[in-house]
Amino acid sequence: MNTHTPVLYQEVLDLLRPQANGRYLDGTLGAGGHTAGILDASAPDGRVLGFYRDPEAIAFARQKLASYGNRVTFVNDSYARMRQIAPKHGFDQPNGILLDLGLSSRQLDQGERGFSFRQPGPLDMRFDQTQGETAADLLNNRTEAELAEIFWRYGEEKQSRKYARLIVANRPLTTTTQLADLIAGTAFQSSRRRRIHPATQIFQALRIAVNHELEAVETGVPAAIDLLKPGGRLAVISFHSLEDRFVKRLFRQLSQGCTCPPEQPVCTCGGQATLRLITRKAVQATPEEIEVNPRSRSARLRVVEKNAL
Ligand SMILES: C[S@@+](CC[C@H](N)C(=O)[O-])C[C@H]1O[C@@H](n2cnc3c(N)ncnc32)[C@H](O)[C@@H]1O
Repeated sequence: MNTHTPVLYQEVLDLLRPQANGRYLDGTLGAGGHTAGILDASAPDGRVLGFYRDPEAIAFARQKLASYGNRVTFVNDSYARMRQIAPKHGFDQPNGILLDLGLSSRQLDQGERGFSFRQPGPLDMRFDQTQGETAADLLNNRTEAELAEIFWRYGEEKQSRKYARLIVANRPLTTTTQLADLIAGTAFQSSRRRRIHPATQIFQALRIAVNHELEAVETGVPAAIDLLKPGGRLAVISFHSLEDRFVKRLFRQLSQGCTCPPEQPVCTCGGQATLRLITRKAVQATPEEIEVNPRSRSARLRVVEKNAL
């Protein structure tokens, strides 16, 4: 296994249970690792519709998946738009949907993409480099208050205001190294001693803001539930507590059914559960997986099945 091996690979396949002749949707195709597993498990005629936002990464995935021929279809769009797009490709009621959120190890390892504070590069961070604001645009043009809000909300960074002030005083910033050094140079002693780099949360917050990742989750997960065939399963892997919290709450709420007070003898609300929880608690990577792929440490997998109403 190497760092490009998909996170929670076997767990996803065991819980999604791809079958021959099934239709599956991979909302975050990335390097195509999970999709390859789904295609193998659904051989000889299962099909995957894969969404991607990174035209650079897709060349790699296409090559990797070439041997599956027309069993896989590539869509250059956000998974948040799956409800509009999937039916056009004959995937109106897929048997399973996977969302493996965040960025891929491959993207992180490419210094020139600007995702990593460990590698020199431009402050870009866009999944799709053909459109939208870069991290540098955001850092150099937003107000101090707006930056502090981004760091606090998406990075859960306790020193958000201090770092926002520091950045505004040192603008313009154009490279990952400039930003990482600026943060590291003023981080409290306590956080300097931490195992993680003090700029970790700032980089994470910027990436999430640049790519509107939380908005995609908030639109895409309900869309996936709507689209799924009754009896079909949805698997979501989150790496960020904000995303995981949203997924957990939505899954719980939709698996509740009747919401009448417990002391009421007869149900009057008529509520029916849309979903059945397949994982009561989030599935996490084993110590063995974390050893070979440290990024898997923060992965949380939650799976639901859509009820037939
Ligand atoms: C964790 S990686 C997925 C890795 C993939 N499961 C594999 O096995 O290679 C997440 C990928 O989703 C992409 N992505 C992020 N947001 C997206 C969105 N809204 N729509 C489509 N793809 C998205 C990222 O560019 C990244 O390539």
